[in-house]
Amino acid sequence: MSVLEGKHILLGVTGSIAAYKAADIASKLTQAGAEVDVVLTEHARRFITEVTFRAITRRPVLTDLFDEPEERQIAHIHLAKRADVLLIAPATANVLAKLAVGIADDLLTTLALATQAKMVIAPAMNTAMWQHPATQHNVKVLEGRGATFVYPAEGMLACGDVGAGKLADTSTILATVEAVLNPPLRGVRLLVTAGPTEEPIDAVRHISNPSSGKMGYAIAEEAARQGARVTLVTGPTLLEPPAGVRVIRVRTAQEMLNACLQVYDEVDVVIATAAVSDYRPAEVWQGKRKKGEEEWTIRLVPNPDILHTLGERKGKHVLVGFAAETQELLHNAQAKLREKNLDMIVANDVSQEGSGFRSDTNRVTFLWADGRQESLPLMTKREVAHRLLDAVRELVLPSG
Ligand code: CTP
Repeated sequence: MSVLEGKHILLGVTGSIAAYKAADIASKLTQAGAEVDVVLTEHARRFITEVTFRAITRRPVLTDLFDEPEERQIAHIHLAKRADVLLIAPATANVLAKLAVGIADDLLTTLALATQAKMVIAPAMNTAMWQHPATQHNVKVLEGRGATFVYPAEGMLACGDVGAGKLADTSTILATVEAVLNPPLRGVRLLVTAGPTEEPIDAVRHISNPSSGKMGYAIAEEAARQGARVTLVTGPTLLEPPAGVRVIRVRTAQEMLNACLQVYDEVDVVIATAAVSDYRPAEVWQGKRKKGEEEWTIRLVPNPDILHTLGERKGKHVLVGFAAETQELLHNAQAKLREKNLDMIVANDVSQEGSGFRSDTNRVTFLWADGRQESLPLMTKREVAHRLLDAVRELVLPSG
């Protein structure tokens, strides 16, 4: 039985050229057993009519805030209360902006404010409008508030441009609605380590590395979205912590180890993305060391290997590491997988362009303890997070 069976879906359709595709979405939702109430904005009605949706859903279609079908008093409040999901597909740049600031000047935006239902938004627009900082800001704001986006696909757009902006496939949109109703990682407790560590030399200097934390934060954010209970142990980064994630901030490798050990018994899965400094200065100067004419030699001593320590007391934990390499990628990653007692490792050639530190993209290969391996093409860190969590789900819930 589909998770959609018997669910109330509010389908908001806005004025994009892709509005006609909402008919297919309404049809597939209805076929899966959902009760679909379609709300059309005024601009959507220029592209598609109520008649289509009424025929597909066999239910009244709503367009006007002041339109109260007899059997429903205050239609928008009633609809808002019973909805399990508010799906807006296609969503224009205009509706994203209105939702981000809470404007309620028509039925759809009023419903969006009145409902407690989970929101799924599938934007469709011209590439430049999608990439505009205002739109991207609105997306972030809405994501921060818990909305789930089905990002637009790349392709030839109605305006003749080629780029991101095409409404995602119906199947992707439906899968997202299903995932929101039945989060795939619900009940899974996950620890993510992220960012660099800093090892102080004196009061104003430290040893560190250029890790931005982006990969770990993307994993934490996506896992929380998929229903996992996430603890993020993070070294110093400039990133906003993701919504709904418990954050423990640390500075040094030793602090990161202590934080991980403290929560280890309460988690099922560890994903270690942190770029931990392997060495720290043997002595830390008190105060700031004044400059002089003489050479200054700093003696470094090894730091604890956090993931190795967790691997030694693995128990039932699923352990996933990252391997940052500049040579013999797969060979070195394989060795780390074995030595640290991991279930899986993500091999990452940090010398390649568009991969590794600070970048928004990554080209990685997954290696499993059972010998399987899969090379992924260059993709955003968000997409890597998605693929990794699919793999983690199989490791944690093999039957599910
Ligand atoms: N790691 C860790 N603690 C350390 C070093 C690494 O937990 N002190 C983790 C990283 O978070 C990563 C994995 O171990 O998941 C591999 O890290 P990497 O820096 O690639 O390898 P190292 O083990 O440090 O080995 P080397 O620097 O020699 O390549």
